[in-house]
Amino acid sequence: MRFLVVGSGGREHALGWKIAEEGRDNEIYFLPGNGGTSGIGKNIDIAPTDFGAVSRFASEVSADLVIVGPEDPLALGIVDKLEEAGLTVFGPTAGGARIEGSKAFAKEMMTKHSIPTAPFRVFTAEAEAHRYIDKSSKRLVIKADGLARGKGAIVAQDGEEAHSAVEMIMGKKAFGDAGDTIVIEERLTGEEASVLAVTDGERYIILPPSQDHKPIYDDDQGPNTGGMGAYCPAPVVDQEALNYIESNVIKRVLKGLKKEGVTYRGVIYAGLMINDEGIFVIEFNARFGDPEIQCILPAIDVNLGDLLLKAAEGRLERTGRITASRWGVSVVMASGGYPGSYAKGKEIRGIDEALAREEVVVFHAGTSRKDDGRLVTSGGRVLAVTGSGNTLREARRKTYHACRAIDFEGAHMRTDIGLKGLARLEKAGVIEC
Ligand code: AMP
Ligand code: GLY
Repeated sequence: MRFLVVGSGGREHALGWKIAEEGRDNEIYFLPGNGGTSGIGKNIDIAPTDFGAVSRFASEVSADLVIVGPEDPLALGIVDKLEEAGLTVFGPTAGGARIEGSKAFAKEMMTKHSIPTAPFRVFTAEAEAHRYIDKSSKRLVIKADGLARGKGAIVAQDGEEAHSAVEMIMGKKAFGDAGDTIVIEERLTGEEASVLAVTDGERYIILPPSQDHKPIYDDDQGPNTGGMGAYCPAPVVDQEALNYIESNVIKRVLKGLKKEGVTYRGVIYAGLMINDEGIFVIEFNARFGDPEIQCILPAIDVNLGDLLLKAAEGRLERTGRITASRWGVSVVMASGGYPGSYAKGKEIRGIDEALAREEVVVFHAGTSRKDDGRLVTSGGRVLAVTGSGNTLREARRKTYHACRAIDFEGAHMRTDIGLKGLARLEKAGVIEC
């Protein structure tokens, strides 16, 4: 089978890695890929948003399946374009990707279909947003409506910060047109988790729940990033919680999309906040989470290529769940300065040593290969080092051990990925955790 993976991050490396493991005959092209994907397939220098070039290349190589990783091309309609050319594509059309590309659309859909979420208001006029903040006694989160590379949500500490967020997004247009409309919602507290489901528009398969860590520093301190590490399965989502999420979130959002006239084929990602009062959707994404999928794939036994192909073709055999057969922990090693500005071109050493350890994979994100073969940094999130094991503790140990073998100037990572899960297991009296 011939697969084409669109994107260049750790998520795309992980998807390709799994498919490569599944069959020697699987050929994988990455558009454009990174310094790690060239080791398992061919990197083709085509930008994910150059739909004409993607479509021509996919047709030229007679790709059996095109898998779209990132949100930008999805929101811009890559799937519509490729399907017009007769290609089989895993990912929602632009109409479906609005669930991620417009927070106002997503929130209104949640209200319409009784999906639990924080109370909110939508604003298109800056002055009105300021007046609302003045009158509100709640702690608020200000969000740009459109895509903003994961930086469009500002969790305000007080009214003053809420006003400055509105000013930054609507007044100074920090995220361009993405901030022409904003959503202001009540701030929720609790523990976050991600639940992803692969769907063919009718049936769905829920993947084991995972937990990302967005702030840059340990103990969830500092500014938000694209995600600094994740583990799977996340104990905060127990059976009862997962039943609730399936009935009240996954089923309802798919039904809602259908009512909007969308046949949604791809992944629906629910970002959730869980607290004593219940489970609330913070956001929906129209793609696999990064780094969530890096820790999920090594923890499950499933033929991914087959699953994604069946979903794309609208022929999943059943609705159900995949449970994790082991634990997965993925730790992001980032460039010094990230999520602010950072240097590129730093030589990365020690990956082979890390890979020599059992049950360790190193997914590349911001890496590239120089002509002389040296591997250097080329992005903020550089690597997602992933270990798996029979217990969460063991998976954590393998992952951090592997991280210690790797080095590049300025490298930094969180040291607490998975600790919330461990604390929860210990509290529940699980001895072998
Ligand atoms: P979003 O862009 O909607 O995914 O939000 C990014 C991050 O901001 C989330 O992962 C949360 O950590 C935080 N966040 C978003 N909305 C809320 C909320 N209503 N209450 C508390 N934290 C939130
Ligand atoms: N890890 C968060 C995201 O993929 O949006």
